[in-house]
Amino acid sequence: MNTPQKGLDITTAKSSRLDQVDFNNLVFGKYYADHMMICDYKDGAWQTPKIMPYGPMEIEPSSKVFHYGQAVFEGMKAFKDDEDKVWLFRPEENFERINISSKRMAIPEFPKDYFFNSLETLLDLDQEWVKKGEGNSLYIRPFAIGTEYGVSASPSNEYKFIIICCPAKAYYSTPVKVLISDHYSRSADGGVGFAKAAGNYGASFYPTNLAKEKGYQQVIWTDASTHEYLEEAGTMNVFFRIGDKLITA
Ligand SMILES: Cc1ncc(COP(=O)(O)O)c(C=O)c1O
Repeated sequence: MNTPQKGLDITTAKSSRLDQVDFNNLVFGKYYADHMMICDYKDGAWQTPKIMPYGPMEIEPSSKVFHYGQAVFEGMKAFKDDEDKVWLFRPEENFERINISSKRMAIPEFPKDYFFNSLETLLDLDQEWVKKGEGNSLYIRPFAIGTEYGVSASPSNEYKFIIICCPAKAYYSTPVKVLISDHYSRSADGGVGFAKAAGNYGASFYPTNLAKEKGYQQVIWTDASTHEYLEEAGTMNVFFRIGDKLITA
C-alpha cells in the first residue's frame, strides 16, 4: 500500500439530478447520485482522489479489464436517521474486503484514508440522495479496474478506483425462490470464490438464467467437488435455522 497523500480534488455538479428520481418507485441501480469519486493508480502509486459529477468516462478498448477481468467491487449502504444524520453499515469490513479481493486479483490495495476521506465527502455532497424512513438507503458501489492499455496477458500497471452511489430500497420486493445448484459451481479450492471479483458474478449469470427458466430467482451454490455442502446464494447472504441455531457463511 502506498503512503497516502492528503487532499482531494473536488469539482461539484452544476445542478442536481435529484428531481429526476421517483423515490417511491425506485428500480435498483437505475439512478446515480450527483457525484462520484475516481482515483487513478499510475507510476506505482494511487494519485489524489478526484470527486466530480457522475458521468461517462473514457477508457481505451485495449484496457486490461476488458480482456482479463481485473475488476473487484463492494456493495455497502448508508442510512439516514430521524435527525438527518447519515450512517454507514460496517464500512470498515467492506473496506477490508475490497482490499482482500484486490490482492487476489493482483490489483494494488487502496489506502484507507483515501477511501474514507472521499466517501465522507461524497456523502456530504450527496446527502439529499440518502432518504430516511424504513427500507430506504443509499447503495454505495466502490470498485477497482485495470485500465492500462495493451492486450498482453499480464497485470495492469494502471488502475482506477471508483465510488458511485445509487438510492435503493429492498433489492427484492417479493420472497426469493432459490434453486440449489448440483451442477454449476461458483467457487473451487484455490480459486477466487472468496473475492468479490466481477467475473464471479458474470460466471453466475448463465446458471442463474437456467434457474429463472424453471421459476427460481436465485441459485444457492454448493461445494465444487461434491455438491453436498451449501455455500452461499448468488447475490446475498443465506442463513439456515436448525433448531435454535442460526448458521451462515
Ligand atoms: C455473493 C454475495 N454474498 C453475499 C452478499 C451480501 O453482502 P455482505 O457480505 O456485504 O453482507 C452479496 C452482496 O452483494 C453477494 O453478492
